[in-house]
Amino acid sequence: MFRVTQLLRETTKRVIGTKTTSRADLTLSCFSTVSNLQRLAGKVAVITGAASGIGKATAAEFIKNGAKVILADIQDDLGRSVASELGPDAAYTRCDVADEAQVAAAVDLAVRLHGRLDVFHSNAGIPGRIPQDDALSVDLAGFDRVMAVNARPALAAIKHAARAMAPRRTGCVICTASGGGVVPMPALAMYSISKATVIAVVRAMAEPLARHGLRVNAISPGATRTPMMLNEIPRLAVVSPGLSGELRRMVEEGASDAVKVLEPEDIARAAVYLASDEARYVNGHNIVVDAGYSVHKGAENSPAR
Ligand SMILES: NC(=O)c1ccc[n+]([C@@H]2O[C@H](COP(=O)([O-])OP(=O)(O)OC[C@H]3O[C@@H](n4cnc5c(N)ncnc54)[C@H](O)[C@@H]3O)[C@@H](O)[C@H]2O)c1
Repeated sequence: MFRVTQLLRETTKRVIGTKTTSRADLTLSCFSTVSNLQRLAGKVAVITGAASGIGKATAAEFIKNGAKVILADIQDDLGRSVASELGPDAAYTRCDVADEAQVAAAVDLAVRLHGRLDVFHSNAGIPGRIPQDDALSVDLAGFDRVMAVNARPALAAIKHAARAMAPRRTGCVICTASGGGVVPMPALAMYSISKATVIAVVRAMAEPLARHGLRVNAISPGATRTPMMLNEIPRLAVVSPGLSGELRRMVEEGASDAVKVLEPEDIARAAVYLASDEARYVNGHNIVVDAGYSVHKGAENSPAR
């Protein structure tokens, strides 16, 4: 250990000249986690659906990592109170993501307040009306609404974030998809289609964004303990007692390592990675954060079993 410290001291002297640096300073600068806490230092982010659940946890995690965040949502009172809870690096704005002009305005607000935009996290979402799994009576109006809130805003976010980011040739968009977009949930068929579309948008737009030096990626959470998920359990009990019961067991009784309810912070940390410069060559991907559930589920359903 002494030899390592000696080598570090010699290297530091070579780099910074003759100024002597104490061993304690060296140890701090080389091994401290302080820099790890600031993985988004100086970055400016907009997060939609940030008044609650995954968006709220992501806003907190971004701020902890040195970012300034605009929280965008339609729950104004909640959004304002979350922003004030998060402190001076957070601000709230009303933004209905189904309205392109409001998405554009959230981007413009970030630029007006902070002079730049580095990250747009298109995260707001709704599960949609239930039932939505009867093929003979598909509710196309309900489908349009789910697509308008879950899928179309991903493209609006890309368009307007890119408008602000392209001149500096740096920045990224993150879209919250879902495990249901990877392995469809029959009880939530319309929702699953909307989230598969988000993943398709991300894949299709990666190269057009790369031409401007920008990136886009998706995160697909598994079942995550948020108000949306907890509200879905009783609603699903009517149409899909199996899925509802499975979710209830996961929430109430805990679960095996393979089938877990995640915490919103588990998803937020994936967003921090994608937003950070550590992910500067990660573009067009879908990071599935579900403790492997989608893989195990596929194996369970395999006819070979
Ligand atoms: N919780 C899960 O198990 C889970 C799993 C996979 C994917 N997701 C996705 O994660 C995202 C966040 O969901 P959550 O679980 O944190 O739920 P949540 O209900 O806690 O948060 C969703 C937020 O989106 C906001 N919102 C809804 N419609 C909006 C609109 N038109 N414009 C702006 N904001 C709007 C809500 O007000 C709410 O604050 C959603 O896209 C959801 O589909 C959640």
